[in-house]
Amino acid sequence: MDKEALYTLHSGLPRQSPGGDATTRRAIEMLPKGFNPRAIADMGCGPGMSTMVLAESFPEAAVIAVDTHQPFLDQLADAANAAGIADRVSTVNRSMELPGEEPGSFDLIWAEGSAYLVGVETALDAWRPLLRAGGCIAYTELVWLSADPPEDALNYWQEVYPDMNTVQGNLDIARSAGFDVLDHFVLPPSDWWDEYYSPLQRRINILRMEEGISEVLNNAENEINMYSLFGGCYGYVFYVLALNTRTADVSRRPA
Ligand SMILES: C[S@@+](CC[C@H](N)C(=O)[O-])C[C@H]1O[C@@H](n2cnc3c(N)ncnc32)[C@H](O)[C@@H]1O
Repeated sequence: MDKEALYTLHSGLPRQSPGGDATTRRAIEMLPKGFNPRAIADMGCGPGMSTMVLAESFPEAAVIAVDTHQPFLDQLADAANAAGIADRVSTVNRSMELPGEEPGSFDLIWAEGSAYLVGVETALDAWRPLLRAGGCIAYTELVWLSADPPEDALNYWQEVYPDMNTVQGNLDIARSAGFDVLDHFVLPPSDWWDEYYSPLQRRINILRMEEGISEVLNNAENEINMYSLFGGCYGYVFYVLALNTRTADVSRRPA
């Protein structure tokens, strides 16, 4: 994969995966009543649409936005400056597993469309010790919604994301990683079309005029076509988790 061409395609887009401000807020509402995080990490934040919603929803929180692509972090820093919340939003150019971070650093870890990059199980294992007792994690993950998807969809995703699991498979992973599942829901099609694929398709059209045919543009367009044909049988699911009591005892922050 030509990583540079992929970043060129995604440059300037508001989102790098399906999602929406209303969807982020819906997941926030699923956190425990009265939950008031002081330290939040947004892993694989991209240009930071979710980071901004988190910072605005929790005015007493400091939010660390983590990504490995500096231009996205710069885009977010500009947005935080413009919104007057730069004092509470910091950007970190590091891998989302955050090795070496103090245990118990965060009350809330957020990850929209990014946990898959290291693998959900790996991500949950890496993030669990970073949570304080009572801490929560919310992330979105691409999953099969149908038990019997059409062969074309199966073949496509087998190639692109062979680890794609079912809704239930991901619930099982979360529970065996030491979390209670507070809630989960499927992201609406508008989060794919209005928020992600329409701006992406416009960007593809511009780059095709400027640069002609390229593998990265073809791949992106194939993905969009796949969703228009088979979107009902797969989708993104938001999972909202809390450390279960047993795990919370283990990862309690030293006094
Ligand atoms: C699919 S995008 C999702 C971005 C954002 N959460 C959104 O929904 O728009 C995944 C993001 O993870 C970043 N990324 C890739 N590997 C990473 C890693 N190991 N650690 C941190 N970020 C990573 C990419 O630069 C990209 O911004």
